Amino acid sequence: MLVLMLVAIASLRLCSLARAQPLCRVQTVRTGKDVLYSSSMTTRLIKHPCNKNIALYLGRQLFFTRNNFESSLPPFSIPPSMQVGIPEVTSAHFAGPVLLLVVNKKVYVYNIKTNSWTASTGIEHPVSHISGDNCCYSKHPFCLDISIFVFAYSHGEQISQTNIYFSDNWGFIFENYIHEGQEQLVGSLGGIFYLFSLSQIGVLLINQEKAKFEYSDYPLNHSFGLPFDYNGTLNIIIIPGQKGILIFWFEKSLLVSRNSGQLVFPVQVQERPGTLYPSVFDAGITIHTVAANENALAVLTQEDSLYYGSLGILTSFIIKFAHQDIWSQQAALMFTGLGILEILTPLPDSEFPAFDFQKCPVNIQAVLMDPQLQVDVCKVEILQGDFDNKMYTIDMNSKLELTAMMIPRPGTSPVPLAMVSNPHALGLNVFNYEDGYTYDGNTKHRLNISLKQQQHWGRADPNFTSSIEKPTISTITVDIANKEISCVDLKPLTAIISIGCDLKKKIVVQNEISACYKGNLDPVALQDNYSYIIEKEAYDPNFQGQKATEDLLVHYPYEKLGCPLLIHYDSPWKPVVELWQAGKFQEIVEAEYVLVEVNGLFTYTYSLTADTALCSSQPQNWTTIREEAQGSSFSWDRENYVSCHDPNNDAPLQWPNVPYQILGGPTENKIIFDQRNGIYVFLISIVDPYYSYCHLTTAFSVYVYGAFPLPFLMPEITIFLLMISILLSVWLAYMIPKLLHTELGRRLTGYWVSLCNRCRRSCACFQCRH
Ligand SMILES: *[C@@H]1O[C@H](CO)[C@@H](O)[C@H](O)[C@H]1NC(C)=O
Ligand SMILES: *[C@@H]1O[C@H](CO)[C@@H](O)[C@H](O)[C@H]1NC(C)=O
Ligand SMILES: *[C@@H]1O[C@H](CO)[C@@H](O)[C@H](O)[C@H]1NC(C)=O
Ligand SMILES: *[C@@H]1O[C@H](CO)[C@@H](O)[C@H](O)[C@H]1NC(C)=O
Ligand SMILES: *[C@@H]1O[C@H](CO)[C@@H](O)[C@H](O)[C@H]1NC(C)=O
Ligand SMILES: *[C@@H]1O[C@H](CO)[C@@H](O)[C@H](O)[C@H]1NC(C)=O
Repeated sequence: MLVLMLVAIASLRLCSLARAQPLCRVQTVRTGKDVLYSSSMTTRLIKHPCNKNIALYLGRQLFFTRNNFESSLPPFSIPPSMQVGIPEVTSAHFAGPVLLLVVNKKVYVYNIKTNSWTASTGIEHPVSHISGDNCCYSKHPFCLDISIFVFAYSHGEQISQTNIYFSDNWGFIFENYIHEGQEQLVGSLGGIFYLFSLSQIGVLLINQEKAKFEYSDYPLNHSFGLPFDYNGTLNIIIIPGQKGILIFWFEKSLLVSRNSGQLVFPVQVQERPGTLYPSVFDAGITIHTVAANENALAVLTQEDSLYYGSLGILTSFIIKFAHQDIWSQQAALMFTGLGILEILTPLPDSEFPAFDFQKCPVNIQAVLMDPQLQVDVCKVEILQGDFDNKMYTIDMNSKLELTAMMIPRPGTSPVPLAMVSNPHALGLNVFNYEDGYTYDGNTKHRLNISLKQQQHWGRADPNFTSSIEKPTISTITVDIANKEISCVDLKPLTAIISIGCDLKKKIVVQNEISACYKGNLDPVALQDNYSYIIEKEAYDPNFQGQKATEDLLVHYPYEKLGCPLLIHYDSPWKPVVELWQAGKFQEIVEAEYVLVEVNGLFTYTYSLTADTALCSSQPQNWTTIREEAQGSSFSWDRENYVSCHDPNNDAPLQWPNVPYQILGGPTENKIIFDQRNGIYVFLISIVDPYYSYCHLTTAFSVYVYGAFPLPFLMPEITIFLLMISILLSVWLAYMIPKLLHTELGRRLTGYWVSLCNRCRRSCACFQCRH
């Protein structure tokens, strides 16, 4: 390092001597400046929640490791090309593939894989903090997308005036975040967090040493969590796993919330067996650093003591371990495995620029066995469930059944407990347990858990489903109530549940009698780049029911649609729609849906009108949907559908005789085709907002047959000619027998006979024999 500096200074000298020729590289000097540091008195160690080997140490220097500090490291620095100025780091956050740092009030993105830096764009005011979360349950896009959302803000500014920024691409690009009603909020900003476990954005408001969360979305919109003491400047840790656990800490304060900040409690401190202080403040200790993982919490104090606590459902105290000389200004804590805690201290090397790391592992389970601590033994031997750490989806009208198994210690009867993190969205329908068979001398308990979306078991307000257009999430956690702190190896069971579209759901239109089967269309011809013509009188390219100006040549996409469904023009018809999930038939869809012919064919109508469909308000139709879109592309789906039977729909029923264009649901509405044979390609879309979160839509084709082919002439002329020919044949039938008896008749008969004889000779005219 020193050598480098000397070379650089030498080259700088050289530079000033020969100013005319820019030979030198001045920026070499600046590398020394861009070694990052944190000015906080405390140290922090942030582990990547999904990759346990990646971590960032924040102290007097920063260290970034990819192997859990298993090798010496030079202090983490930012390239001079980023031109950060003072390289002071105030906040750091891992967002999926990147590490975000706030350096000198600006956000920088470090790509972990490519080892490259980028400055974020879109932030116009200085910021001090960033926040976000990660989902490690699954590689499903739903889970991976959690890490793309990042907030950047300035801690401590008046909330009514401050600028908050939001990114939905891991912090590369930020936009101004408009928090509804922000101007009315009183207090300073303690942080803003996307609380996925509750599907809410939470703003922490600080006002006169009290703080509380304000939530953004229905049903908690603009409501507050309970106020709690806010002493100092609290660091906030979102515990990985989307369970809704938050930890707030500062030198004299340690608080925990298990429901995304709705209730925040001080963590109690057990100094000796039997002495429990209500808070860190009351225990008179000073926190140096805190480490937390999904299940546990550890605290190192400036008094050189180590404390440990479980993050179980009901426990909220930390217990002091026996004293040992472990503290130093640079010491940090990290959990490296279940029940293993490490005290990590970077050590400078006088010979080498890289730092070494001193590690001091603590086996929590072994320490807790110390009889002096008087800790009760864990009452549970095994808690297992195959849903642990997995992701599930619950769509509307579906439920989820999970099971777990518990083996208690002989002679004890611990109480298992299940909790959902977002009770507004997800209901715990059933949770029970039964004593099962004996297993290795233990009684095995089977836990049954049944989950359902809240809306569908009658407790939630009916507006709930439609008010949530974006999917929500929740986690389910199964743990033991009042678990002893000694249950270090007994991990609670958790699964993440997406309450949203089940991407495996598809709709299919039943095609039992196809036009190919009945011989109306030739499948070979259909497959061979088949095309057909739609006459200009039958379609409107603008879907407004106006005749087009020229005929349309349509290519038939056989690969996509197969053979069309056969329909007789004369029979009112509606498709039979099937719901499939992951390739398995589920049910016939009874929900409301709409159809549109993709080429603009309008030669069909509906059997019901607004009136006969018993609408209480004016129903929507394709015209109104198109008008609402104001020229941009439009779709009619669960998000814009409003039922005309909905008592809250206040559109007056002004035109009761318009066709009712919604099929399925409570009405018997059907399609009635005009007298026209041909192929129709329909797009079907389920519009019932209560059927599924998915946009269920598909295309299918029908072939209408049996209609009298319309002649080229006007229908009036056709009828006239038809009448004339009928009259003529009636007249002929009457006149011919009469005529045959007259002289003219006889002559005519003779002519026919001679013609027939001639014919018999010259050709094989069988008809003439008579
Ligand atoms: C939340 O929103 C709903 C509907 O959007 C509204 O009826 C309710 O009054 C709001 N609640 C609060 C506390 O503002
Ligand atoms: C905050 O400080 C006050 C005294 O200033 C103290 O009474 C209170 O217990 C502290 N709260 C916490 C959570 O530490
Ligand atoms: C738990 O579920 C199993 C199978 O689903 C069932 O046989 C058992 O009766 C259930 N137990 C209770 C207590 O409901
Ligand atoms: C549903 O929402 C509408 C308007 O947002 C409101 O008038 C109605 O009272 C709500 N229904 C319930 C049951 O809350
Ligand atoms: C299919 O037919 C269309 C129109 O008849 C024609 O333009 C196109 O080239 C044909 N494609 C093939 C692969 O024959
Ligand atoms: C669509 O509904 C509007 C009233 O909402 C009505 O004026 C119009 O005629 C309807 N269009 C069709 C094609 O039925």
